[in-house]
Amino acid sequence: MDSAPTAAQTLARLTGATRRYSRGAEDVHALENVDLTLAAGEWLTLVGPSGCGKSTLLNLLSGVDQPDEGSVEVGGLELARSTESQRTLLRRRGIGIVFQSFHLVPHLTVEENIALPLALDRKRDPARVAELLERVGLTPRATHFPSELSGGEQQRTALARALVHKPMLVLADEPTGNLDSASGARVLDLLDELRRENGSALVIATHDARLAARADRLVRLADGRIVYDGRPQDDPGPPR
Ligand SMILES: Nc1ncnc2c1ncn2[C@@H]1O[C@H](COP(=O)(O)OP(=O)(O)OP(=O)(O)O)[C@@H](O)[C@H]1O
Ligand SMILES: [Mg+2]
Repeated sequence: MDSAPTAAQTLARLTGATRRYSRGAEDVHALENVDLTLAAGEWLTLVGPSGCGKSTLLNLLSGVDQPDEGSVEVGGLELARSTESQRTLLRRRGIGIVFQSFHLVPHLTVEENIALPLALDRKRDPARVAELLERVGLTPRATHFPSELSGGEQQRTALARALVHKPMLVLADEPTGNLDSASGARVLDLLDELRRENGSALVIATHDARLAARADRLVRLADGRIVYDGRPQDDPGPPR
């Protein structure tokens, strides 16, 4: 293939990433020796049963958590060897995060929530915020507070917020978990559209098989290990 990914296109890499928690006398292996390379612009879904390590992996990629062993590299920065301020800048400028439970700031309006990543970076871009509001269909709700929105509207606000600063990496943990299937599909369409426009890579953790089928690549975890990594249509399903 003449378009094989080169090292230059690698956006993130986990090497031998291991994360353990001790629970009483017992050790929980949340992630065990995980190797994963993510290319720029790639769409990957993470699947696997509850407790298999999906959120743990996302937390390592966002730099909010560190592995006990192994390394995590994002945008050319090896997180363990970087300073706290380098990691903060990376998160602020390079990463967008969408959570299952939205995590909107209750005392900020929809447009202020969307502008938050820019504000944290001491930037203002009202045109970009207005564009995002329009794209997620929330222009009429711009000055409303999160408590006045439906679940789908809250999630679309969270999505606009995660993408407003055109991050190179978007991490979404069960972004449709709290939505009915029509709103979930709408959120996913938007995420895909904005990802393409920005050229962002997207990693989504999900229990939703239909959602997983739309990605370029599917990674299946079981007990903290990768048990499948390939095209969604070839996924053999959970190990038995
Ligand atoms: N802070 C913590 N302290 C102790 N154990 C933890 C902690 N966070 C996660 N774990 C354990 O690590 C394992 C992996 O958890 P993780 O949250 O990554 O799973 P998950 O795949 O995201 O599950 P779900 O689909 O339910 O969100 C689980 O066994 C969990 O109980
Ligand atoms: Mg989780």
